[in-house]
Amino acid sequence: MRISDTSDRWWKNAVIYCLDVEVYLDSNDDGVGDLPGLTRRIDYLAELGVTCLWLMPLYPSPGHDDGYDITDFYAIDPRLGSFGEFVELVRTARDRGIRVIMDLVVNHTSDQHPWFIESRSSRESPKRDYYVWRDNPPTKNQPSAFPGDSDSIWEYDDTTEQYYLHNFYRHQPDLNIAHPPVRDEIARIVGFWTQLGISGFRVDAVPFLIEPKSEEEGAEGHDQLPDPHEYLGDISAFLARRSSEAMLLGEVNLPHQEQLAFFGAGDRPELQMQFDFHGMQQLYLSFARNDARPLTASLAGRPDLPDGCQWGTFVRNHDELTLDQLSDPERDEVFEAFAPDPDMRLYGRGIRRRLPPMFGGDERRIRLAYSLMFSLPGTPVLFYGEEIGMGENLAVEGRYAVRTPMQWSDGKNGGFSKARASDLVVPLTDGEFSPKHVNATSQRRDRDSLTHFIRDLIQAYRNSPEIGWGRLTILEHGDHRVLAHIVRASVGAMLAVHNLADEPVELTLSLPDLEPKSHLFDLLQPKILPINRGTVELLLEPYGHRWLRITSDADTRIG
Ligand code: GLC
Repeated sequence: MRISDTSDRWWKNAVIYCLDVEVYLDSNDDGVGDLPGLTRRIDYLAELGVTCLWLMPLYPSPGHDDGYDITDFYAIDPRLGSFGEFVELVRTARDRGIRVIMDLVVNHTSDQHPWFIESRSSRESPKRDYYVWRDNPPTKNQPSAFPGDSDSIWEYDDTTEQYYLHNFYRHQPDLNIAHPPVRDEIARIVGFWTQLGISGFRVDAVPFLIEPKSEEEGAEGHDQLPDPHEYLGDISAFLARRSSEAMLLGEVNLPHQEQLAFFGAGDRPELQMQFDFHGMQQLYLSFARNDARPLTASLAGRPDLPDGCQWGTFVRNHDELTLDQLSDPERDEVFEAFAPDPDMRLYGRGIRRRLPPMFGGDERRIRLAYSLMFSLPGTPVLFYGEEIGMGENLAVEGRYAVRTPMQWSDGKNGGFSKARASDLVVPLTDGEFSPKHVNATSQRRDRDSLTHFIRDLIQAYRNSPEIGWGRLTILEHGDHRVLAHIVRASVGAMLAVHNLADEPVELTLSLPDLEPKSHLFDLLQPKILPINRGTVELLLEPYGHRWLRITSDADTRIG
């Protein structure tokens, strides 16, 4: 690691915070969060230690997929604010050292998008080939990503008597990237928002976006894209020409080995970052079993990434907690442990809950989960409200259960809005995770709160660039309840130890590659631990964790 690298590739040790503007803070009392509201909370985010904001879609949309169904890529949903307010937000964030990235959703549009309205109007329409039309659904017909919405990813359209492709909901027709004008539009969209000051994109549904849509039966006579990865590399190269600092963080929910192709190669980057979906799912299996082995195996199986690339680590996001990479019995184990009621499950593959209720509010276990997330090699991605331990509202439909308004105080509507409760864009959480019990204001005042714990973790993480940049070593110690790992870079090394069990554990660890006169400096508690002949003795509490910098007299960093 060189100094220039650490600032150029800022995403290697960023703290990313995802939010949906419409549920963050309402500044004009209409029940919908907005850009001026979010701008007022930039100092809150800076105080927490966030370095990058990921904004969920803020484009105009009929709202049938929470904004992931877009009707205009070059506009802002008027409920959220104006372009003037958007630029003010980006500038304010930047001033506090926070970059802004946003969702790029170009696998599909809304069926209300003018392109689709025109495309479906006649087979001769100039926009016809913006979408994928076929006389017959190909034989390789898959079920839709949302079981229950439709049995097929092909929908018959009466007007022109052909089928269109939709990998997601039927109201989200897939764009045809094999058609050159569509690729031009995508570049224009990327260029447009980059020009407004953003630092990259979270790219939605990448495997669907680039998968060949023209190879199946009935594709003759349609445009062909010779190499989908070449196209992803083209988007990346275009973005790099427009902004030297911008990055792409892709949603690629595939096994690690298959993800590798989406990073590209050193001289031909594609996505700089991808979420570690495999690691996340194995983490929950580990939680369900109180056994570190599934997580350890996933970490050990991560492939080496090209220079400058990075994993995004997360425990929850805005969607259902997908468990699609687990085997059926493994998924059942996780369901049994964390979503015992069928109403907590979604699409047969996921859980529509946030983490604290899944852990029965057990603060020791919640802290363990976040301590793990921040200490694993990669860049942590938080979903708004995780820093205060928000819960879900199962009375709200589908995935909206985890997308309730941010809980700022115990006042009216949790301090989110002064509108009537019935006018709120999504109802608040109730019960033991309601704003009365869980809110940012009271936690800020309480030094022992989860928020302060997360702040401390973020500070320790930001003080330990080896987590983002270093190489991982998993220590062997014979106790499967515990993960002990070291991350080491030229700047130094850190040892993290996590006990996944609800019982105390005594452990002796042998530490490899020590400098003479090394000791362990605890980054979360005012303690220094001796190392005796290369080993350290630890006593971990139930669900206990330690962050220990391996330090010697030569280390000049502050703790
Ligand atoms: C991604 C988003 C999800 C959305 C889907 C279709 O998976 O995370 O919320 O429904 O893409 O755009």
